[in-house]
Amino acid sequence: MAGSTSPVRHPKQKKDAALTGANSFLWAFFDSSVGAKIVVALTGLGLVGFSAFHMIGNLKVFQGRDAINGYAYFLTHSLGALIWVARAGLLTIFALHLTLAIRLTLRSRAARPVPYAHPGSVQATAASRTMIWSGAVVGLFVLFHLVHFTFALVHQAEVEPGKFVSYADLKDANGQHDVYSMVVFGFTTPWLAVLYIVAQVVLFLHLLHGVQSAFQTLGLKNNRFAPAIRLAGFAVATVILAGNLAIVIGVWSSPWTGLAPPLYKTV
Ligand code: HEM
Repeated sequence: MAGSTSPVRHPKQKKDAALTGANSFLWAFFDSSVGAKIVVALTGLGLVGFSAFHMIGNLKVFQGRDAINGYAYFLTHSLGALIWVARAGLLTIFALHLTLAIRLTLRSRAARPVPYAHPGSVQATAASRTMIWSGAVVGLFVLFHLVHFTFALVHQAEVEPGKFVSYADLKDANGQHDVYSMVVFGFTTPWLAVLYIVAQVVLFLHLLHGVQSAFQTLGLKNNRFAPAIRLAGFAVATVILAGNLAIVIGVWSSPWTGLAPPLYKTV
């Protein structure tokens, strides 16, 4: 390389020379559009896995207060350092998915400043264009959701007329965090319920295209498997939507589902 034999190096050249072997391969991989697409696809599938796992865990609310509170206690207290490893992993794949998807979109827009003459005929591009917006809504929802449930900063539970308690201070008879009551209080509040329903529908739209698109990027959506992959994408997105909506609607339909607003102990 001419740069490496030159006696005087430009600061930028020094930095490049420091990138050797695995480092430079990784850098080139992430920097290339193909590499970024593969990472977006793999991290996207990871996030789909998390969404399905999270939804299945949350359905424990239908088994009653002890079931979901015990499950939440197990995740947050019994797994020790593992929960922090899982959280760090989740945060990393979320950050990679988000930043690389945004960069890919910006690059493809910069490469095509003139819109297509017949947008309807370029289906894949139109679908990918809406992915960035549905993804942004899902990302904002996740932030809101953390502030609402994990940090308990959005809304308080009215445990008796005029008496408000932070979600974080709701405890069950075993002294465990009362996640059951938190969910019931959350979704009996109309504006919160509506916001969650809208977010679940947008998540559905994002997954509907995202799952198929991930398989396509990974080279698995050939003619033979395309119908099966479309069906799988639809099935996964629908099951996650149905499970999450069941919880919100289940709280509203408490006479049938038994998810009644609570009689419980607070601290
Ligand atoms: C109706 C639907 C949902 C319900 C009832 C629900 C419920 C919960 C609850 C109870 C927690 C634990 C809060 C705590 O005690 O710290 C939680 C955490 C979380 N939720 Fe959801 N959730 C729903 C949908 C979603 C969706 C669609 C996503 C993302 C795609 C999501 C992502 C998360 C994340 C990232 C956490 C933090 C996990 C952690 O702290 O380790 N949730 N959710």
